[in-house]
Amino acid sequence: MKNTFGNVLAVTIFGESHGPYIGAVLDGLAPGIPVSEEYIKRQLYFRRPQGAIGTARQEQDEFSIVSGVFEGKTTGTPLAILIPNKDVKSRDYSETRYLARPGHADYTAHMKYHGFEDYRGGGHGSGRITAALVAVGAVVLPALREKGILIGTHIRTLGSVYDRDFSEDPQALSEELRALNEKVFAVLSDDAGEKMQEEILRAKEEQDSVGGTLETAVTGLPAGLGEPWFDSVESMLSHALFSIPGVKGVEFGDAFARVSGRGAFYNDSFEIDPETGSVRTGTNHNGGVNGGITNGMPVVFRTAVKPTPSISRPQQTVDFGKMENAEIAIAGRHDPAIIHRARVVQDSVTALVLADLLTLRYGTDYLTNS
Ligand SMILES: Cc1cc2nc3c(=O)[nH]c(=O)nc-3n(C[C@H](O)[C@H](O)[C@H](O)COP(=O)(O)O)c2cc1C
Repeated sequence: MKNTFGNVLAVTIFGESHGPYIGAVLDGLAPGIPVSEEYIKRQLYFRRPQGAIGTARQEQDEFSIVSGVFEGKTTGTPLAILIPNKDVKSRDYSETRYLARPGHADYTAHMKYHGFEDYRGGGHGSGRITAALVAVGAVVLPALREKGILIGTHIRTLGSVYDRDFSEDPQALSEELRALNEKVFAVLSDDAGEKMQEEILRAKEEQDSVGGTLETAVTGLPAGLGEPWFDSVESMLSHALFSIPGVKGVEFGDAFARVSGRGAFYNDSFEIDPETGSVRTGTNHNGGVNGGITNGMPVVFRTAVKPTPSISRPQQTVDFGKMENAEIAIAGRHDPAIIHRARVVQDSVTALVLADLLTLRYGTDYLTNS
């Protein structure tokens, strides 16, 4: 029943949706990394529900760093962040205690924890817990940026709407990542973004929800990162990405769309960059990873984020207290889409995994700025 992830840099998350606090402990961090509370606040803001397209649950995420930071820098001891749950209306859930929300983790949590689970609002399986991941991710993201490593995610598809593709040129791509990291609704084309938000509102009107795909790119990673087999870059990232509630698929490069093409097409030919004299590839179908190890090209991957399971439309389910068929119409406060909020969670887990792999290869002090 482990809630810890990572080898050298390990994150532990704890808490329940309607408990007093959620939080995270980050262990294995180098001493001397600057920690900006303003930046943590900003990242948490990006995860928070926004306007008509978000849930009515409004948590201010007033976090406290209770360990591991002194005079604005990491001490090298476990960094612990606590986030109180304040906007809690547990009555919304008590009447539906044994009604399994289709697509949610109520029934599976009940089977795993034998009825001792805190069932309110999805308990420990709630998307609420991702705020803790975002908070610790916001410690690591700036440290990676100092090393020239930039991470950014856009909503590539939402329902039937497509954003435009990332640029292939690494320089232009880095500019796009910087721009995305300033946006609450992270799309490359604002026009597509408006259509996506309309689609979310349409789903909401129809008492329904909508999903899509997130695409992340990472620039500035050195070639040679990742362990060849079980701790490959792809394995470690997928492991962490599948931990984000609602993520149902992970793809590196353009695998699903292109692997049925021939090798002569799919292979990324190598060439020497005339400007830098270093090795690069002409295309990036493999998403910057060969044999589980980075090849120095941008690491690019996509996740499939499903439509929010909690919808107010009546659905067929079971009452697992009475062991009989039942109907459920979910009355609590839920997002008609979670994908735009999951994006900053995806950036955070990506940062945590890459920081772990980097410290594994180059030593704990790699991330130190001093
Ligand atoms: C940021 C975020 C917010 C979420 N909010 C909700 C929500 O309001 N209602 C809901 O039913 N699911 C929400 N989810 C998704 C569920 O937590 C998730 O679907 C559920 O735990 C089952 O896990 P699975 O979809 O990975 O199988 C959210 C996920 C994230 C990442």
